[in-house]
Amino acid sequence: MPLLEIKNLKMDFGTGADALRAVDGVSLAIGAGETVCLVGESGCGKSVTALSIAQLVPTPPANYVGGEILLNGRDVLKMSNAELRNIRGGVVSYVFQEPGASLNPVFRIGNQIKESLKLHRTLGAPASGTARTNETNTPCQRPALQNYDDEVIRLLKLVGIPAPESRIKNYPFELSGGMQQRVMIAMALASEPKLLVADEPTTALDVTIQAQILELLHDLKQRLGMAILLITHNLGIVGDMADRVAVMYAGQIVELSPAKELLRQPLHPYTKALMNSVPKLHGDANRLSAIPGNVPRIGNFPPGCRFAPRCPMVKPECSGKIPELLEVEPGRFVRCPFWKNEC
Ligand SMILES: Nc1ncnc2c1ncn2[C@@H]1O[C@H](COP(=O)(O)OP(=O)(O)O)[C@@H](O)[C@H]1O
Ligand SMILES: [Mg+2]
Repeated sequence: MPLLEIKNLKMDFGTGADALRAVDGVSLAIGAGETVCLVGESGCGKSVTALSIAQLVPTPPANYVGGEILLNGRDVLKMSNAELRNIRGGVVSYVFQEPGASLNPVFRIGNQIKESLKLHRTLGAPASGTARTNETNTPCQRPALQNYDDEVIRLLKLVGIPAPESRIKNYPFELSGGMQQRVMIAMALASEPKLLVADEPTTALDVTIQAQILELLHDLKQRLGMAILLITHNLGIVGDMADRVAVMYAGQIVELSPAKELLRQPLHPYTKALMNSVPKLHGDANRLSAIPGNVPRIGNFPPGCRFAPRCPMVKPECSGKIPELLEVEPGRFVRCPFWKNEC
């Protein structure tokens, strides 16, 4: 059983005649310890899909109209508020784009991490045989901590913050963007999540720091064995991180593949276009092609293939019915019947 299994998820903003479909039949599974990248331009529905995993999109305006989100086999959409509180920041933790906006400016970072620990970990004598349970409806049993301060230092060391003993006294503004993001990651790790959702975690950072944060996530995944859902609009950062990649366009998955194969040979015209729009370090800047046109707004999706109006290989039949997500090779799914064509 995968750790997470999103099945045919459909989510609207609004109800009745005003309903706008933001997530339209998304299916995605993540195994324990697996890294999956969810890629697509801004506005494709990546964040709302990811936030749905812990029911973090307020209802209303969100309205779940179909599908299931199975976390360890239990449907998040059917959980009580008490169960959801246990999921949020417990089994599933989030890291967002703007660390500066998520950290509280008036508290020292050590205290902020401590608060996060207090929410999820209890103090006490080291317990023996405290294997973590896989259940999501009961609090996870973790080894009890001796004291919170030592654990704060341990977490800051884990995320590569130098001299954590003195850093804990810093306020967020005293840290660089990259260091702030490390603090956010430390807070997300405080609950020892099974799944870390990192939503554009490096988008606000400059390129060198981006690479360092991605390396940190990769390293943490290896050391802690947690699964990662990494969300990005930049296919260029997927490379070393992902086991599998899901490409999202206008509320739907259009390609799902093992990362190596997708990067070697993208099959959907949208994935190919995303690939061509990745800046290459030593490439010819003139060859960089932005994808013409824009992602359609929710409620304004074209009929048939939603990428058709921007697709270089569009055919008249593309505006008929929505193409199915076809398994064209074992483990490779593409929502385009013309995937074999060159474009
Ligand atoms: N609270 C909301 N109310 C109405 N529409 C929303 C809300 N949040 C997001 N949307 C819309 O849902 C779509 C998907 O948004 P989002 O998941 O943030 O995209 P992404 O993360 O891929 O950039 C967008 O069209 C966005 O405008
Ligand atoms: Mg987003």
